[in-house]
Amino acid sequence: ARMDVTETFHHIKFCGHLHTQESLSFAQNFDFLGSDILIATYPKSGTTWMQQIVSLLLSNGNPQLVETIPNWARAPWLEQYYFKDLCRVLQSPRILSTHLPYEILAPALQGSRTKVINVIRNPKDAAVSYYFFHKMANFLPDYSTFDEFLNSFLDGTVHYGSWFDHVKGWAGNAKNLNIFYITYEELFQDLGGSLEKISHFLGCSLLPEELSSVQRNSTFGSMKDNSMVNYTLIPNNIMDHSKGQFMRQGKIGDWKHHFTSKQNTRFNDVFNVEMSDSKLDFVWE
Ligand code: PPS
Repeated sequence: ARMDVTETFHHIKFCGHLHTQESLSFAQNFDFLGSDILIATYPKSGTTWMQQIVSLLLSNGNPQLVETIPNWARAPWLEQYYFKDLCRVLQSPRILSTHLPYEILAPALQGSRTKVINVIRNPKDAAVSYYFFHKMANFLPDYSTFDEFLNSFLDGTVHYGSWFDHVKGWAGNAKNLNIFYITYEELFQDLGGSLEKISHFLGCSLLPEELSSVQRNSTFGSMKDNSMVNYTLIPNNIMDHSKGQFMRQGKIGDWKHHFTSKQNTRFNDVFNVEMSDSKLDFVWE
């Protein structure tokens, strides 16, 4: 795994620092279990947040695990190069994460009862978050302006591929999956209610005080201060912490501070065309 290399897999770009052809194929052919929980997200849409929530729910709100084990070790991404070794020691129920599109994992997931949790975020906010992440992450390409980045985001050539294809793939295939959908916005607006829905989907019943502990330990403020989820453990040559923070804003509608009205019009035009073949109906600020 090298920092400066781009791996292309199924016409999608991935960073060679985290992925190899072998690791991507391993993910594609993964042997899912019915007990597995798979967090499927487009980048910057609430992955870390959901990893935290699911870890805490399975621990009945006890924060011991989320305070001692980094998120990438307790809810690893299927497609990362260290996953093959790590998955040998994961205990059931395994919490797995993926940024891969549905199409790549569909054959492996087919017929499994794996519980998929798909978090979707307003793509304007995901784009802004992703742009700032490119500034600090040395394993992602360097875009000189937001405008340049936005063009790549809209034409789907950014790493991990098109937001539109990703969302249509996961959200459009509910009938083939044991899947639960939630938006970043719903988590943000009603974390307590969201936790109840997620625990119901996962089949875990927590006492009210246990649920409050899940909630306390998954707020933006507590996660920003928790080195097991805020990525400050990653050395500066990989994530340059002088250029930004992983736990950057944690808000909804931040795009309004970064989009020009021209960029917003262009975004809406592309969105309408890309989503015209889909019945998905999102309400975003
Ligand atoms: S990644 O790199 O794809 O795994 O990133 P991901 O975790 O999906 O998304 C990062 C953004 O999620 C925000 N975040 C949160 N927002 C609100 N509450 C909580 N608890 C929380 N945890 C993470 C994080 O700040 C990134 O969004 P931005 O807009 O950049 O702040």
